[in-house]
Amino acid sequence: MEFKIAAGGEVKVILIYKDEELTNEAYLYAKEKGLIQGKAGEVYSSICKDEQVIILGMGDKRKVSLETLRKSFHALGKEAMKYKVKSIAVEIPEFEGLCYKMTVVSAVEGLLQSEYSYEKFLTEKKVKPCLEEVFLSVAKGKEDTAAEAIAEAQNIAEGIFTARDLVNEPAINMYPEILANSAKKELTALGVKVEVFEKAKIEELGMEAFLAVGRGSAKESRFIVMSYAGNPDSKEKIALVGKGITYDSGGYCLKPANSMKTMHTDMAGSASVIGVLKAIAKSKLKKNVVGIVAACENMISGDAYKTGDIIGSMSGKTIEVGNTDAEGRLTLADALWYATTVEKADKVVDIATLTGACIVALGNITTGAVTNDEAFMRDLREASSMAGEKVWELPNFEEYKELYKGTFADLSNVGKDGAGAGAIIAGLFLAEFVNGTPWVHLDIAGTSYTSSEYGYMPKGATGVPVKTLYYLVKEF
Ligand code: BES
Ligand code: MN
Ligand code: ZN
Repeated sequence: MEFKIAAGGEVKVILIYKDEELTNEAYLYAKEKGLIQGKAGEVYSSICKDEQVIILGMGDKRKVSLETLRKSFHALGKEAMKYKVKSIAVEIPEFEGLCYKMTVVSAVEGLLQSEYSYEKFLTEKKVKPCLEEVFLSVAKGKEDTAAEAIAEAQNIAEGIFTARDLVNEPAINMYPEILANSAKKELTALGVKVEVFEKAKIEELGMEAFLAVGRGSAKESRFIVMSYAGNPDSKEKIALVGKGITYDSGGYCLKPANSMKTMHTDMAGSASVIGVLKAIAKSKLKKNVVGIVAACENMISGDAYKTGDIIGSMSGKTIEVGNTDAEGRLTLADALWYATTVEKADKVVDIATLTGACIVALGNITTGAVTNDEAFMRDLREASSMAGEKVWELPNFEEYKELYKGTFADLSNVGKDGAGAGAIIAGLFLAEFVNGTPWVHLDIAGTSYTSSEYGYMPKGATGVPVKTLYYLVKEF
């Protein structure tokens, strides 16, 4: 799909708003028959030799948001595909209260989103993109802004799609070594330095908690460090630490069959880090970012770690293993310590499919957050609202910190019996390993994957929270 700021295109797109009067024939027909009312995301096509229009509902004009634009333009892309339309012409108007650049970014994103699908293993493809050209007419004097917006939306979409592809890939093909290779393949050519540590180096660094989790797997663990230096004049650096469990069987605390079915997606945090670094590097943002992933598989074997084990960590703190299925926080403990001490990042965000408890609390709609720094959390909330990716902060009261103290070790990787608050406890456990650095934890267990499509999200991996991370890095 190519975007041009010019006139042209075989099919004209008409945006309509709730309660709007229009004289267009197709519109009057559709309205009279009750086929369209102007609600956001509604589409009606009249495509024959003489008339070629797609009518796109936008809802109440005063209530159009960036998310409305994404959803409506996604519906437009799907409609164009349904009618095998090769080119469209569409006007992107100015909406009160919306930044014009973000308006264009969101409309373009919506169209691009309509073409994503994960079909590499289907012998017969279901989604067949055919829209070749999109002619945009933009607000007067905003041509340059719109051109920048198009490029940015394309970069962001590529980041999201890369993340989705990595997550959707089954674990038989996606284990730590391959994840590391994928990071290199996606990022090296864009000027991101990708270093991959193997077992000996990881041992030397003292990452005992991380290594314990990967011990039961036939696939060796890898520690991946991805550095993007977009602003050499500044020493400031943000670290993005992604959970990278390429398969989570639960270990000896084995998951039931149904819960295990999608556990190849337990590296969605790391995929979002690789995806956002791709978008950031493509957009050449003038920021310094380091992406960090402790990649391993949580499996069973004669050498696997066990409940009751007491393990060390790079930080020196000792941890009792109360449950081998609470593995993510063990790998993240060492990754966060590395990010904040070796990389000396000024701020750190971790992104993890960390707890089923977060799904219980917030479902698949909202990402859970835990923080040690309210100002940083405000920035993140702002970024998430630009992105249209919902985030909700969970409480971090002192009292919770009693609940994951160890008996014979400093900490336990699970809460005390009956403690509840699983998502909070997991988050605050991680806070023990950030060396006082401003930090936000994002639990994407519910939001990174969906079993049914909704809005512009396809079935499977969603790519959440690539956009939030992008705007966090860009704007703050
Ligand atoms: N990867 C899972 C969390 C998860 C569950 C992600 C469902 C996506 C969908 C994580 O490693 C896990 O198993 N967490 C346990 C922690 C518990 C043992 C304290 C959980 O949530 O049950
Ligand atoms: Mn687990
Ligand atoms: Zn897990």
